[in-house]
Amino acid sequence: FDTIQDAVKDLCAGKPIIVVDDEDRENEGDLVMLAEHATQSSINFMAKYGRGLICTPVHHTIAERLNLRKMTSENTDPHGTAFTVSIDHMSTTTGISAKERAITIKALLNDENTAHEFNRPGHIFPLIAHPKGIHARGGHTEAAIELANLCDSKPVGVICEIMNDDGTMARLDDLLQFKKIHQLKLINIEQLKKYISSIEHTA
Ligand code: 5RP
Ligand code: CA
Ligand code: ZN
Ligand code: ZN
Repeated sequence: FDTIQDAVKDLCAGKPIIVVDDEDRENEGDLVMLAEHATQSSINFMAKYGRGLICTPVHHTIAERLNLRKMTSENTDPHGTAFTVSIDHMSTTTGISAKERAITIKALLNDENTAHEFNRPGHIFPLIAHPKGIHARGGHTEAAIELANLCDSKPVGVICEIMNDDGTMARLDDLLQFKKIHQLKLINIEQLKKYISSIEHTA
């Protein structure tokens, strides 16, 4: 595993990193990057090599302002992942190309945008982070928001699970190989929690 500091350095510079959650949780590795670095090429990288579902963790205040509402009022996901009704920016055509997904993601960052700026349903899946952060919920959603904070960036991330070529989930051994091939930093949520606690105590 890499240090949080090294991972954050890459993230702030525009590179995706790999974030692994607990083995007894999803036991998944997600590619994570900041929404401000969403481009045709970075989204295509996630779609081509990550191959999971591209989602955008958002701070709950952004979800409220843009009226990103829960996808269902009865969430029965095993981890309660806070999916909202999917969106496309109104300027998009099909919404799914890497370029158009980047446009929708970037639109989440614009303070002047309102709920009307987005068509529903669409091809981008905003996830609402727990208001109390990673200590309250150790999901990739909260990890992405904490990491955006560490970069002093707007609290919107982009995440995508990593699958193996055969469609099975990439576990730690596979992820270490993926990390090597693509030269990415890899951290886990436990490390991030400890790091956040340590800076909270010195702040
Ligand atoms: C959406 C998911 C992923 O697991 C994603 O990592 C977000 O979920 P969580 O915050 O529960 O880890 O289901 O593709
Ligand atoms: Ca999940
Ligand atoms: Zn479609
Ligand atoms: Zn996850």
